[in-house]
Amino acid sequence: MGDSQKSSRLSGFYQKTVTERVAILADWACLDTAEIDVLADSLGVAQADKMIENVVGRYALPLGIGANFLVNGDEHLIPMVVEEPSVVAAVSNAARLARSGGGFFAGSTEPVMIGQIQLLDVPDLAAAQTAILAAKEVLLAAADTSRTIARLGGGPRDLTLHPLAETLTGPMLIVHLHFDCRDAMGANAVNTAVETIAPQLERLSGGRALLRILSNLTDERRAWAETAIPVSVFATGEQSGHEVAQAIVEANAFAMADPYRAATHNKGIFNGIDAVLLATGNDWRAVAAGGHAYAARSGRYQSLTEWRLIARAEDWQQTSRAGTPSWLAEAVAYPLLYGRLEMPLSVGIVGGATRSHPAAQVALKILGVQSARHLAELIVAVGLAQNLAAVRALVTDGIQRGHMRLHARQIAVSAGANDAQVDAIAAQLVREGAIRLERAQELLTEIQKS
Ligand code: MEV
Repeated sequence: MGDSQKSSRLSGFYQKTVTERVAILADWACLDTAEIDVLADSLGVAQADKMIENVVGRYALPLGIGANFLVNGDEHLIPMVVEEPSVVAAVSNAARLARSGGGFFAGSTEPVMIGQIQLLDVPDLAAAQTAILAAKEVLLAAADTSRTIARLGGGPRDLTLHPLAETLTGPMLIVHLHFDCRDAMGANAVNTAVETIAPQLERLSGGRALLRILSNLTDERRAWAETAIPVSVFATGEQSGHEVAQAIVEANAFAMADPYRAATHNKGIFNGIDAVLLATGNDWRAVAAGGHAYAARSGRYQSLTEWRLIARAEDWQQTSRAGTPSWLAEAVAYPLLYGRLEMPLSVGIVGGATRSHPAAQVALKILGVQSARHLAELIVAVGLAQNLAAVRALVTDGIQRGHMRLHARQIAVSAGANDAQVDAIAAQLVREGAIRLERAQELLTEIQKS
């Protein structure tokens, strides 16, 4: 919870029972009984019925805890909702490794979103732009439609013009409204604001307003995380730490150069990011859309992360764009594996499902975030850790070994194994290298007979 007295380093957490883990978490995050109950069963059908249309039930997913996170010197446990085995274990492991370099250093821009208004049939593009810019202050005042966001200190910040001289249907003038959403994700506020000023823009331009909607490419609302880890921690039985770190750099170079690899590389980042977005009731489709669009900003779709080796302290200052935190630079032993993830991240801690989903409220309490920016900074650190975990596995054991262990547990559960039987059956399936449902059923029958 960002409390320097507590450590998020939870060794052996995975070996505990669910009840034991909940007790540790409740103590760590000071959860009361009602909040603890929410972890097991959060959203009633009646509440769900108010969230979307045509509700017929609820659909549960596992909620796990990403452990060991140290971000800007604060300890954090990370609630993650995800269906894929290995994601939570892998990110916790990467966060543990990052602690040897002082964890993650994260930052963010002001939470400014862009709303777009598409103006068509504008008789004179140049004259329209002059008229709109002359009325900028009036338009910004008219766009200040959200009392809630104004109370938080946000609101419209700027208005910019983006003429498209040539499109498939002819020229158009696109107006961007830059809107500071503070602790809200802000979709509703931005959409209301652009709809409100569209008639004025029509009058000023002599054109016709068609689309009035936010952009999910929130490149003015970004977060970044960095880590710098002594390479020695990556040593395996077969490879030196330096070799593994160098291989991670080479794997990243592949994802920078090749969109087929970049898509998979970035999917690994979103494994972690989406899991926290889901846990906190945020719109993961919006963040994914923005992240992938940002990954293609150079004109070619590329890796969102960068990884490089830093041989000496002198090289560090030039590498870190976010500035060198002195506690990090002082704590580390060179050479370092340096990683950075920067991407658009529009999240909220007020409004929407963040407010209406009881589990999202508990997730925010566990995270101990004070603002939407703080949440975005933790999420981007999770994305960087998840990427490190995936690429490290890929350049060493390969991804299947860890996956298969967890997959075997799922197969054992599907075969009908109870808590006491799952581990033995899964271990036998892995030993035999045959992780199949029929074999799990045979093993279960054998155990039941004995
Ligand atoms: C699997 O969900 C994610 C990975 O494919 C990511 C990657 O390849 O970097 C392992």
